[in-house]
Formats: sequence, structure tokens, C-alpha cells
Amino acid sequence: MSLIEGFSRLSREEKVDLVVGRFLGSSPGARERLRALRLADPSLQARLEEFSENTLTNFPCPYGVVPNVLVNGRALCVPMVTEESSVVAAASAAAKHWFVRGGVRASVLGREKVGQVHFTYRGDPGALDRLFSERRPELLAAAAPVTASMEARGGGLRSLELAGARGGGGGRRHLLATFRTCDAMGANFINSVLEALGRRLAELVASDPLMEGEREGFEVVLCIVSNYTPECLVRAEASCPAAEFSDPSGTLGPGAFARRFEAAVRIAEEDVHRAVTHNKGIFNGIDAVVLATGNDFRAVEACGHAFAARGGRYRGLSSFRSGDGEVRFSLEVPLALGTVGGLTSLHPMAELSLDLLGRPSAEGLMEVVAAAGLLQNFAALASLVTTGIQRGHMRMHLLNILNHLGATEEERRRVKAAFLDRAVSFKDVREELGRIRAIQ
Ligand code: MEV
Repeated sequence: MSLIEGFSRLSREEKVDLVVGRFLGSSPGARERLRALRLADPSLQARLEEFSENTLTNFPCPYGVVPNVLVNGRALCVPMVTEESSVVAAASAAAKHWFVRGGVRASVLGREKVGQVHFTYRGDPGALDRLFSERRPELLAAAAPVTASMEARGGGLRSLELAGARGGGGGRRHLLATFRTCDAMGANFINSVLEALGRRLAELVASDPLMEGEREGFEVVLCIVSNYTPECLVRAEASCPAAEFSDPSGTLGPGAFARRFEAAVRIAEEDVHRAVTHNKGIFNGIDAVVLATGNDFRAVEACGHAFAARGGRYRGLSSFRSGDGEVRFSLEVPLALGTVGGLTSLHPMAELSLDLLGRPSAEGLMEVVAAAGLLQNFAALASLVTTGIQRGHMRMHLLNILNHLGATEEERRRVKAAFLDRAVSFKDVREELGRIRAIQ
């Protein structure tokens, strides 16, 4: 075992040689696989490689679309990137189901982003309060060069507070800043502002006479955007007359379907085991659109799960209400998304996705993504409370099983025909393929 030094400075081919030679000796065709998945266009490939470090090749994932997504009266064809077999099919079925019931209405409830400058301070809390209020204009002035162009577009730094336990919490305090970032997700902008604030704060503490005798233990620890953005919130709702809230599979009548559907939503409100899976299903839809549009799905997921636990207990994110002959199925979820900057204009597919959606603003994209989450949740719950999830899921998974078993085109055609109205399981597909192969 020896330390690998200077790996990032090697050329791509040198990296491949090293990795294949040291780690992939027993993986047949490793070098060819790495090569096969690179793009034919070298300049596009080079662009992708530069998104990250130590890139050897690409990791392709299906890029699909969901037609018939009706959001605020606009019929959209929504792009999704996902490896999970049944996600796009389920979203498509739900989109079609709701298309004829008025679709989804979505609205942005807030767009506020947050960032923090964390520091330690063990001096007199009153002196720090005074420093903050008297020298606040200078803190803001330090941020001004960074915020100028965002201000010109209507965004920028919106508020700045001194926060954290006064005289407690182990001396840990922070500046809490809120931002508007227009159509950008804005993390880089926010981080730059916070670093400027952190530097100025340190200078003020070091130089202001108010801080005489209070400076010991003062240290700026870190300046960073918060991915917890509960005020960057969007609501999506699908509603219809109770009599039209029908089961897409046709298994249950409207009353029974609504009763079970509502029970499923309530279970996710009460039971953490179910809530996590329920929300995972919502993020199946959300992440797939977030990825397809070049946004940061880790930030969206982390925030969504923290938001789901905001009341002190983790709960499902969607709600169901019925009354006055109407049912309302809704989702409120924080989504910090952008449609300019970052990968949105660098990744050729992210750009195409935004074109496909008609070049939405960040708010427009938030509405579409929330609608995708709601539709995905509807599809999952509708299956779960009627036929069970495996029927649709395994039907979509059939092609993966056939690929796994190395089925030929003709074998695939025959197995698919054999499972048209039969439940799919790995064992049954393998047996059916065995039978077909035995009589060939
Ligand atoms: C599978 O990826 C997602 C579901 O488990 C979601 C759910 O249970 O609500 C089907």
C-alpha cells in the first residue's frame, strides 16, 4: 500500500492507466468501458470533465420526459433524470390523470436564502451588541462591492442580524444574513458576501476601542450559505370534486379510494418509518427534475428533510383535505433553485431542459419541480393503496431483469408477451426465459 501523490495533475489517460493498472486488473474490459462512455465530441467531453476533478469518463443516466404536466394552466413536457425504472412512468400516469382534472396549481410562498458568519466571542455581550449596531453600516459597505450587480437585478443582501446565544453556547455567535438571489440559486454569491462580512467583522473587532479587553477568544470560524431555506418555499396543489378523485387503476370506487388515500397521507404524518419513504417518493420526482435542470439535488434533499422535521418530529411533506364536496392534495416544500448561473448554462442537457420548460424564472422552476413532487407522490400513494407498488414497479423493472439475464431481442419480445398480465418477479422471468431457451 502506498500513498498516491499528484493524481489530479496526471492527464486523463495517465489517470486511467494508474486506476486500471492498480485497481481494475480483474475487471474485464474496464479500459474499453471507460472509453465507450465518453462523448464523441471532444470539446463537449472536455467541458463535462471540467465540472469535477479526476474525471475518467461519464456515468450516463436516462434522460426522460413527462408530457401532460399541467401547471397553472400551462401544459409542460417535464424533463427527468433518474435511474429508477418506474419513476417517469408513474409521473407520466399521474400527470395524465390530473391533466383532465385541472392539473396542478403552484405558487411560490417565499424566495429568501440564508447565510451565516460563525465566530467565537467570549467578551462582554453588550460590547458586541454595541459594536454591531454602531459599525453595521461598515459591515454592509464591505459587502456592497460583491452585492452591486445582484442589487442592480433586484436582489442582494436583505437583512443582517447578530445572532446566537448571548453569553452562552460556548461563546459561539453568528451573523445571520438573508438574501434574494433573483434567478440564481446563489450559493456562490452568498458565500462571497459572507466572506467579505467575516473579514470586515474581524477587522472591526481588532480595531474598535469598544472591543478593548474583549477580544480574547474572538475568531471567525466559518462563513457559509445555509442550505436550510424554509422561507424559500413553494406550494403545489391538485384539487377536484370528490366524485372525480378516482383510482387510476380502477380497482376502487372514488369514496373508498379517497378514504385509503387520506389514510396513507395521515400515516406519513404520524409514523417516521413511513414518512421517510413517503418523502423519498416525493423526492423521486423532485430530484429527477432538479438534476435535469442542473440544480443541486443534495441541497434540495437536505433542506426538504430538515423542513419535514421542523415541528420537532419528521413527517410526510404532503397533505390531504376533503370537505364541501372537494378534495385537495397538496405539498409544501422548500426549493432553492436557479435558472441562471452554475451548471444551468454549462451543462448542455441542463440548458436543453430549461428550453423544454420554456426558459422559466427560478420561481417558475420551483413551481414545476413542486408539481413533479406532488404528482410523483400521488402516483406512489395511488398504487400503494390499490394494486400495491410491485405491479407497476416490476413491470418497468422487467427490462432490467432481461438485460441482466442477457436476453436477445426475440427472447425479450416473447418474455414481455408472457408477462403482459402476469406479476413480474426475477425468479418467474428467469424460469420463463429458461423455458423459451429450452424449446429454441
Ligand atoms: C420508491 O422509489 C418510492 C416509493 O416507495 C414511495 C412511497 O412509498 O410512497 C414507492
